[in-house]
Amino acid sequence: MQTLKSALGDFEPETALILGSGLGSLVDAVDAHTRIGYEELEGFPVSGVSGHAGELVAGSLRGHKVAVLSGRAHYYEKGDAAAMRGSIEGLAQAGVKRLILTNSAGSTDPDMPPGSVMQITDHINFSGTNPLFGEPTDARFVGLTSAYDANLQAVFGKAAKKLDMELHKGVYMWFSGPSFETPAEIRMARLMGADAVGMSTVPEAILARFVGLHVAAFSVVTNFAAGMTGGELSHDETKEMAPKGGQKLARLIEAGLQEII
Ligand code: HPA
Repeated sequence: MQTLKSALGDFEPETALILGSGLGSLVDAVDAHTRIGYEELEGFPVSGVSGHAGELVAGSLRGHKVAVLSGRAHYYEKGDAAAMRGSIEGLAQAGVKRLILTNSAGSTDPDMPPGSVMQITDHINFSGTNPLFGEPTDARFVGLTSAYDANLQAVFGKAAKKLDMELHKGVYMWFSGPSFETPAEIRMARLMGADAVGMSTVPEAILARFVGLHVAAFSVVTNFAAGMTGGELSHDETKEMAPKGGQKLARLIEAGLQEII
């Protein structure tokens, strides 16, 4: 067991990425400097969800120094919304300045079909919990007016244009999971202003703002949300569909990182 900072030695990543289920392909484009299993890193979770590998790869992506986390721990695994706190604090200690979060999500928008990529502009925390429960310092009162960094949104918007790629923008609503939503919940989510729904990302965005990282976040739409098509939802569908939109998202992130340099 060691800290991420000591595992990386003098390699200092500027940007970290957390890849959602089925979205791991981006890691193949990294010219790896260090590969390390979460179980060897202090504060990192050992996640058991199928489709998730617990590995951090630090290296160069299009000349940009990155740390890529393949796999995340979710609130629904153990009821711990702060499951990613140790790893996000570890990233900040290792010198990371910005965090790019990715997830698979259900779309509540009939005009945003499976395969779409959505840049998250804001979120609704519908879980009733918060990863900062129990934090005793005043730092817990994190402002979230600009949770998703405006400059990064502009950078990725520009990258999408250059690639001639459709990039949706919208609000992500965090449900606890692990059961999927009901059709009634999805009608409510839509009325409340959600464009996509999912079971991750919001706690990581809150924790990242807590430690001062700039945040960008993207959803790959794997399905229309419950009740929109009549069919039942399944994790198999998520795993099958994620790599399709995931390829698109990987290209967008690579192009966006080039704009940041
Ligand atoms: N709901 C919640 N999480 C999800 C969905 C969904 O429809 N699709 C992929 N992750």
